[in-house]
Amino acid sequence: MSGALSAPASRFPEGFLWGAATSAYQVEGAAAADGRGPSIWDVFCRQPGRVRNGDTGDVACDHYRRYREDLDLMAELGLRAYRFSVAWPRVLPEGTGKVNPAGLDFYRRLVEGLVERGMVPVATLYHWDLPQALQDRGGWATREAVRWFADYASAVASALGDLVPYWVTQNEPWVAAFLGHATGLHAPGVRDWDTALAVAHHLLLSHAAAARAIRERHPEARVGVALDLHHLEPATERPEDVAAAARMDGFRNRWFLDPLLLGRYPEDLTTRYRDRGLDRSWLRPGDLQELRGSLDFLGVNYYAMTVVRDAPGEGPLELAAVPPEGPVTAMGWRVAPEGLHRLLVRLARDYPPLPILITENGAAYDDALADGEVLDDERVRYLASHVAAAGAALADGVDLRGYFVWSFLDNFEWTEGYSKRFGLVYVDYETQWRVPKRSASWYRDLIGSSRGAVDPARPVGAGQGPDRAGGPAAG
Ligand code: FCB
Repeated sequence: MSGALSAPASRFPEGFLWGAATSAYQVEGAAAADGRGPSIWDVFCRQPGRVRNGDTGDVACDHYRRYREDLDLMAELGLRAYRFSVAWPRVLPEGTGKVNPAGLDFYRRLVEGLVERGMVPVATLYHWDLPQALQDRGGWATREAVRWFADYASAVASALGDLVPYWVTQNEPWVAAFLGHATGLHAPGVRDWDTALAVAHHLLLSHAAAARAIRERHPEARVGVALDLHHLEPATERPEDVAAAARMDGFRNRWFLDPLLLGRYPEDLTTRYRDRGLDRSWLRPGDLQELRGSLDFLGVNYYAMTVVRDAPGEGPLELAAVPPEGPVTAMGWRVAPEGLHRLLVRLARDYPPLPILITENGAAYDDALADGEVLDDERVRYLASHVAAAGAALADGVDLRGYFVWSFLDNFEWTEGYSKRFGLVYVDYETQWRVPKRSASWYRDLIGSSRGAVDPARPVGAGQGPDRAGGPAAG
């Protein structure tokens, strides 16, 4: 690619974690293999009209069987880190109780394969695939889910903790709570705001409980969450729209950041929810103390910027997103690298200091395989501009430790099924043939030009003193 697009990798700190990410349900397939139980997504995909073309994760990229060749491919791309997720229903087919050794073995082999190839494993515990057996017992809407999750986290940490320096407990709790339980667009397809708010709180509590369980076994582990954070702008300068953008910020960003980092829920939104008669009985004394200071790092998933306007009467938040102007991806998401820069700087400004990993960033485009090649120049431009924005945030003093492209492979994009391709590597779903795209070569060159190496067994920044944000160490 042209010099203008080659990102300034040399400006990133030594040992920076350049990686790529996937999640279990999106890539593994082998949905019934080796004792795996069904998850809420297996069930949801089978409900008519939920997922485009009726696609399911039954086969996906067949990564469960092909993980060795996938690991080799990651090594060829020069990845320094790989973020994957553990499927709860493989480890505990019933959600609680008896551990399925075959399920844990798969992740043990995966993690060993990463370390052997010099890559840092970053394990996510929950990327939306709740065991259906637990949904049948009330799912995340019941507070018992906190204990279920902590027990699951213990089992996984015992099996993998010696080789996994970074843990992401929850992936995008906003999506799991609100798309899963308020709009019903995602599994389990519930449509009830009271439930969604309770679920959001239980997801946060489950993070804190899992973090404790992991640290009990491996005190040196670094534990975080991955939040889908947005840079938000009002559609106009009218005060109503400016206020709508602030509400959206409360809903999408502060509702998760504030309890974790400041030990409180944002007052503007709590008042709004109370005024609209929404239930708050899920909040119990002591909960907020549990949450505050439970992060060693913050995972940021960033894709796009969102523009909002005031929309009286539309849902509890009375706002609407405005169709974006300017370039969009195949998801219709507005390309805005400056939003990533502003978001990172804002996190550093508004919250106690803590290390940040960009745990997801990437774009879907209508990639075409021609003559054995995928020339995805738009994705190269997207990634290069976002890496540059991350570099600018570093230069502004943001404590950024890593960057993970979503995704390593094309995969099952939730309600969009296989119609949207996010991978650095193209997957031909008929043959499972993998073809690294032009963006993969671009990324390999970028990583190759960066400084230092990583030690797969050691968290970046380990040994530099306690850096648990918002906790006693941070005052
Ligand atoms: C994020 C999800 C990830 C993927 C990307 C495109 O919200 O965490 O699984 O679907 O979006």
